[in-house]
Amino acid sequence: MESNPNSSQSNTSVRIAGTGSYLPEKILTNADLEKMVETSDDWITSRTGIRNRRIAREDEFTSHIAAEAAKNALEQAGIAAADVELIIVATITPDTITPATACYVQQHLGCPRAVAFDVSAACSGFLYALEIARHSVGAGAFKNALIIGAEKLSAYINWTDRNTCVLFGDGAGAAVLLPAEEGSGKILSSHLGTDGAQTELLNIPGGGSACPITVENADQQLATLAMQGREVFKHAVNAMKRASLHAIESAGLQIEDIKLVIPHQANLRIIDAIVDRLGVPKEDVFINLDKYGNTSAAAVAIALDEANREGRISKGDKILLVAFGAGLTWASAVIEW
Ligand code: ACO
Repeated sequence: MESNPNSSQSNTSVRIAGTGSYLPEKILTNADLEKMVETSDDWITSRTGIRNRRIAREDEFTSHIAAEAAKNALEQAGIAAADVELIIVATITPDTITPATACYVQQHLGCPRAVAFDVSAACSGFLYALEIARHSVGAGAFKNALIIGAEKLSAYINWTDRNTCVLFGDGAGAAVLLPAEEGSGKILSSHLGTDGAQTELLNIPGGGSACPITVENADQQLATLAMQGREVFKHAVNAMKRASLHAIESAGLQIEDIKLVIPHQANLRIIDAIVDRLGVPKEDVFINLDKYGNTSAAAVAIALDEANREGRISKGDKILLVAFGAGLTWASAVIEW
């Protein structure tokens, strides 16, 4: 199921007024992983492009990581925590199954007025949150929105499975949405899609109502990420190419109009395959997966903040965000900065 590109126009245009990110201090290198599983720096680098990832402290939960990223975004937007009206956290690694991680974030930040809830759309989650928030702010239901992609994936990794443990890391990225103003940038278009026929390709099989963790299955690591990597790879390339073209067309633009592509940071080979198919020059693509690995819902958000703060985006630039993840889910957005 895919969203109708023509239905993605909000009542009032909405802009991104600030971005932020936070990465835990501890760095896990490919050399560290060589000591943990049968792998090599050469295999990981050549197959994925990943060199390092960040790992949160034991006492640092997804909500803490999310709140740190959010503080930076609020500061850049010039919005006080007390004035935030909507908080959406995109995550597949919540502090607890209930309440939502967004509720903890509301407390950490001190946003008593904010309605707070989570979105679960894996690596596409930040762009799903963007879509919900922009329509909520655009319709006038909320004056502003704080959206956060945050993950503590290290808590859901089987550290003896080389197929997955080399790929993921922890981190958070955030953005503040406000109504667009005369002469300001705005979100031009977006596109979302889901294919629930492919749930088995990428999931955390245990820990939910379908398979609770019990004394009998406790040693099977069922509450960790399981993935059919090769199949996911193919779907990722096709879905992200399609989603990119939908959002660009819906914005009334051509691919040549896009100044910077910020793709989901899962695998350099996936990104290369997409940009080759789209015909985008490599220098117009933002990459940071070498530093952080795949941080799922946080990845696009962290990359957006880094691109913003490193001066890779200027006022008036059109940028493309595109993501893909478990579900399967995919999402894209074109933003005029
Ligand atoms: N070190 C060394 N060898 C390894 C490792 C490792 N870490 N992992 C797998 N291998 C081996 C496999 O066992 C296999 O060996 P075999 O040929 O003897 O059976 C060989 O390497 C090739 O394995 P493949 O899985 O075919 O390798 P591939 O080139 O497909 O790369 C990867 C695997 C990196 C996982 C890739 O398929 C990928 O990136 N897939 C998509 C990931 C993604 O985009 N996920 C989406 C978002 S995640 C989310 O939503 C939470």
